[in-house]
Formats: sequence, structure tokens, C-alpha cells
Amino acid sequence: MKIVVIGTGYVGLVSSICFAKIGHQVIAVDKIVSKIDQLKKGEIPIYEPGLKEMLSEVVALNNISFTTNLQEALTDANAVFIAVGTPQDEDGSADLSYVLDASKEIAKYSTSSKLIVTKSTVPAKTGEKIKNLLAETNPQIKFYVASNPEFLREGCAIDDFMQPDRIVIGYDDDQAKKILEEIYQYFPASKIFHTDIVTAELIKYGSNSFLATKIAFVNELADLCENVGGNIKDLAIAMGQDSRIGEKFLNPGPGFGGSCFPKDILALLNIAKNNNANLSLIDAVVKSNNNRKNLMVKKIINILDGKVKNKKIIWLGLAFKANTDDIRYSPSIAIAKELAKMDTQIFAHDFQAQINAKKELSDFNNIHFIDDIWQAIANCDLMVIATEWEQYRKLDLAKLKRIAPQIKIVDLRNILDKNELKKHGFIFDFIGNKN
Ligand SMILES: NC(=O)c1ccc[n+]([C@@H]2O[C@H](COP(=O)([O-])OP(=O)(O)OC[C@H]3O[C@@H](n4cnc5c(N)ncnc54)[C@H](O)[C@@H]3O)[C@@H](O)[C@H]2O)c1
Repeated sequence: MKIVVIGTGYVGLVSSICFAKIGHQVIAVDKIVSKIDQLKKGEIPIYEPGLKEMLSEVVALNNISFTTNLQEALTDANAVFIAVGTPQDEDGSADLSYVLDASKEIAKYSTSSKLIVTKSTVPAKTGEKIKNLLAETNPQIKFYVASNPEFLREGCAIDDFMQPDRIVIGYDDDQAKKILEEIYQYFPASKIFHTDIVTAELIKYGSNSFLATKIAFVNELADLCENVGGNIKDLAIAMGQDSRIGEKFLNPGPGFGGSCFPKDILALLNIAKNNNANLSLIDAVVKSNNNRKNLMVKKIINILDGKVKNKKIIWLGLAFKANTDDIRYSPSIAIAKELAKMDTQIFAHDFQAQINAKKELSDFNNIHFIDDIWQAIANCDLMVIATEWEQYRKLDLAKLKRIAPQIKIVDLRNILDKNELKKHGFIFDFIGNKN
């Protein structure tokens, strides 16, 4: 199959490379010239484990190429996947301008019949909008439209794409079904979930909002544990052992962030509002998660006995989660900003997100970036762990105590060993666990 993927971000690039890996001829298109130039040289503009190696493989197979020229790319394509951003608009709805612009361009440049698939996360009935737009812009061509929401997670995106729990395909006609089945024939038929377009669009929002709810739920239980003296770690493990609940997404922390959950949950609320449905539970999750940042700031102020001004803080982790360089809606960044406004000196570290964070935090001259966590530690009053990188989990606590005996620790990811911290005599705080 000849496939065009529009957008070479976290979803578009991974999808392009994985489609090429399973034997399709892929042309990946982006408007950003520098991204395409990098990709042509075999470089990956984002951080995603294993992606560079897989790109080399599919380049060697001659299965992939990169371009900024959509018109050329479309020439022989059977299917076009739209994988552009759908950021949050001012009213919380999904901003569809990139998706609709891409659809218009497809219509303008197409000279033969094609299947147009949305991989971007889009509100219910976007498929219908795209169908109408394609027909209005180029009535000579027969376009088929389908929805194929993407469920991959940054940090393990290749595995998620290649070994998916399910592949959702939504379509309203047999031709769309036929082409999608051919594209996904590498995967067992039992993994393919067939539905209509509107339901496919809603499945993505339903799934993300449910996961966000699970996180908000365990975070509130963690707060309860702090107040009554329970231990959230044990509570979450035992809850998760119930197969009806499941162990995933039960890690308490600084709140959910990233490029999907915060915007998708608001978009779902917006869809509900526009369709006279009441999602009061989801509304509560948004409020709960927004409040999380304030609770984390309070926790940090508390361990410093209320004296925050001029305190030196070593800040471990800026990405919204480990194994990515993505800082969109990162709770770490939001909390660091609040602390920086209180005249602290912050020494920030991340294994991959430093470049993105530098741009985002450029207004703060009291946030300094460090490449080596030991570099600034000796004079710091506090260490905050804000992203769960594996390397922070393995931090040499004996060395830390030796170099910075005064340092206090707030672990917003519950990754350090409480008993080890006690053994070395640190003053520390976790989420959901009174010391
Ligand atoms: N990031 C994730 O983990 C994830 C997971 C599942 C679904 N999604 C959804 O997938 C979609 C894409 O997300 P992302 O994180 O990959 O976005 P992204 O911002 O990383 O990438 C989008 C890319 O599209 C390009 N683009 C925009 N308009 C274009 C056009 N007309 N022609 C060519 N290129 C164009 C941009 O230059 C950019 O490189 C969103 O709807 C998102 O909600 C994201």
C-alpha cells in the first residue's frame, strides 16, 4: 500500500516508521522544513526510544521518504493519514484548524480516489466535516473517510504501535473498510475493532478521560492517606490486584499532564456541552487535577518550613513523564514556575527535555539548567523529584548525604526508597504517605 502520513510529530513519525516496517511504502509529510531535513539525514527530531534505529532499518528497505511537498506525495497514494496536532482552543474544544487545513490541501492536490484517515484525536463528527470539506473543495474526486485514533504512549510508542491492545477503525462504507483491513493485515484480525466513525472518534476521548480519572482518583486517595496515616503505595497495589480495577495508572503523583490527557478531557467536556450531555464526573476530574499543582507547591513550601525565598532547589525532571522530551502541560514545569515566582533559585535537570524546557522557562532568570545533577547539589536546600526517570530512582543516596548533608527531599513520584532515605537520615516527603 502507498501511504501518505501528514505530520511528523510524536504520532505521525512513529506511525510512518511503523507502517514502513510492516511493509508499506510511506511518504511522511511535514510543513516544517528543518524537521524534514533532519529526517532525510536519518536524525529524529523528537526523543523516542528505538525510533532512530527503526528509521535506519526502513530507510535501508527503501520503504520510507520524507518531504514538505504534499502535492507530489499524494500522486499514487491509496491512503492518507492525518496526524497533525489538535491543540486546546480557548474554550477547551479541540482546535481543528490543522486537521481541516490538511484536509483542504489533500482535496486540492488529489487527482485520484483516496481514503482519508484521521489519526489525530478529533471530536465526534469531525469525519463528517472532513467528508463535506473534501467534496466541496474537489467534487471531481471520490474520497473515502475513516477514523483510526492512535493510542500509543510516548516513551514506548513503537511497542504500543507494533503490539497494540486494539486498533480501532471507524468507517461508513465498504471501500474504507477494505483499504484499512489491507493496511492493518500485519496484525491479527482479533486486534482490529470495527465501528462507525463517530464511535471511533469518541473511543479515544473515552479512553483518555477514563485513564485521567484513574490518576485523579488515586491522587485524591493519596491525599486521604496523608491525612489519616495510610500508605498509598500498599493501597494502590492491593486495589490494582483486583482484575476489575487493574494495576496500571494507579501511581500517585503531581497530576496528569502531557500533550493528550489535559486537552482531551476538556475537549470531551466540550463535546458533551454541545450535545446536551452531562459529564459531571469528568468535570470533577479536571478540577481535581488543576488543584494538584497547588497541593504540590504547598508540600514543597511545607518541608521548607514556609521559608522559600532564596532557597536553592535542585529540580529533577522536566518532561511530563519519563522517557520523553515532551513538556506539554508538564506538571513539573507548572510547579517549578510557581516556585520560581517565590524568588527561589532552581537548578533544573532532565535527561531529554532540557532543550524544550529552556525555551518554555526562558522568562525565569532564577531557573538554571544543569547537565549533571551533582554539579549544583552541594549548596542546595531541597531536592524535588518531578519526573520518574529510572536514573533518579537509582540515585546514590549515600553520595548525596556526603555531598549535601543539609538537603531535604520531596519525591513527587514516590520513586525513592523510604527506608533508605531514613537510613541516611534525610528529611523527606512523599505523596500519600506520612513518614
Ligand atoms: N503525542 C501523543 O502521545 C499522542 C498519542 C495519541 C494521539 N495523539 C494525537 O495525535 C495528534 C498529533 O499529536 P502529536 O503529539 O504527534 O503532535 P505534534 O505537535 O508532535 O506533531 C504535529 C505535526 O504536524 C505538523 N503539521 C501540522 N499541520 C500540517 C500540515 N498541514 N501539513 C504537514 N504537516 C503539518 C506539524 O508541523 C507537526 O510536526 C493529536 O491530535 C494528538 O492529540 C497524540
